[in-house]
Amino acid sequence: MAPRTFFIKTFGCQMNEHDSQKIGGLLANLGFEPTTQPETADLVLFNTCTVRQKAHQKAFSEIGRAIAFKNSEPRTSNLEPRLIGVCGCVAQDQGAKLISRFQGLDLVFGPDQIYRLPELLEILQKTKKPVLATELINSAEDYHFLDDVAATKLSGPSAYVTIMKGCNSRCSYCIVPKVRGTEVYRTAREIIKEIEFLVEKGCREVTLLGQNVNSYPDFSKLIRLISENTNVERIRFTSPHPKDVKDDLIEEYATNPKLCSHIHLPVQSGSDTVLKRMRRAYNRRTYLKKVESLKKARPGLGITTDVIVGFPQESDEEFNQTLLFLKEVQFDNIFAFKYSPREATEAYSMEDDVPMTLKEERLAKVLELQNAISKKINQHYVGGTQEVLVERNDRMATRRWMGRTSCHKIVNFTGKKTSIGDIVRVEVTKANSNSLEGNLYGT
Ligand code: 5AD
Ligand code: SF4
Repeated sequence: MAPRTFFIKTFGCQMNEHDSQKIGGLLANLGFEPTTQPETADLVLFNTCTVRQKAHQKAFSEIGRAIAFKNSEPRTSNLEPRLIGVCGCVAQDQGAKLISRFQGLDLVFGPDQIYRLPELLEILQKTKKPVLATELINSAEDYHFLDDVAATKLSGPSAYVTIMKGCNSRCSYCIVPKVRGTEVYRTAREIIKEIEFLVEKGCREVTLLGQNVNSYPDFSKLIRLISENTNVERIRFTSPHPKDVKDDLIEEYATNPKLCSHIHLPVQSGSDTVLKRMRRAYNRRTYLKKVESLKKARPGLGITTDVIVGFPQESDEEFNQTLLFLKEVQFDNIFAFKYSPREATEAYSMEDDVPMTLKEERLAKVLELQNAISKKINQHYVGGTQEVLVERNDRMATRRWMGRTSCHKIVNFTGKKTSIGDIVRVEVTKANSNSLEGNLYGT
């Protein structure tokens, strides 16, 4: 019999991307092979996101399409019927509702249940009835991080490493604590073991992952332990909460050359009153102070952020504060979003009173301003050289490469003598707002 195949479509953040890698590893252990063709796959999985209404809707329409396809084309070529599953944050949030809504859906499992996938597939095969597994696991004894599974699937020189799961903060707009549960931390020993394994397989850079990554107890110590006890060359992390950026982490930027010159530090708003309504536990002054200390500790640090526009009752004046803030901080780049009400969050009970057209207008303003700032910042790099970790080769042109600087800037460059995984020097010749261009140094 031909090997069974699987197809996973991933929505959302790096956590989901990494979860999909783990799922891929588990399925490979069961003898499944990946395919890029959902129409012919024996198992189709949607790893979903529900952070905003739009992501939720997208998941629903994709699931609907797949189910319609499954129900309209009874399979003749394989013994097993095609299976469709939903995992990730929509699965966690909607659970059994998905099964009653989509007749023909086989499997619904939440992020904390990924480790049970082999067992769930077995149950499915036996009972031939939809299987649901959405229990949140909020204790360290019972949680399964599963990274050793993903590590065997390393592709490229850069890898994600989960260090914690869940979120104990209660930002008023955010559904994540509901769908990802409370914080559970992986032990430093396990984390180091996995990174050593990754390095053996050719990994040179790790990104430590967590919904609130720097609430990991003794976070800066963890970074130091990884630096001292493994041969990984670059360390990144995402996403930190500004309230948990403490002096010891700032000190780590001053003293640890393995820690990359980048921090993604979501600010959400530049207005103190909005920040208060968001329950962010910092204000523009304390955020700015931390940014200044970070920049002092690590000259040239790249700083990126997330911004939400149109939070309930956001006035013109409050929105202007965000624009002024972006001008003041000069972020390297931002991700900006229109506020989206999410059920069971505190902000859901506030009236979503900023009209959609105004949200759109504000989003456009923020993006236009940031575009100009990003372009200007990137311009400073032109004429200099940057150290770049080579991540990809352009399949259409063998001498075209893509890599990232320590500041996390994408560099597209031309060069003959290099390979994926090399750390090389690139002469920067051109700046765009989202990337740099250049040539391999000395060619
Ligand atoms: N509406 C809009 N954006 C949101 N984010 C989180 N929740 C919401 C919401 N309800 C954004 C935040 C966060 C990023 C991952 O998504 O900016 O940092
Ligand atoms: Fe989306 Fe948040 Fe879930 Fe990531 S954790 S997939 S951003 S809802």
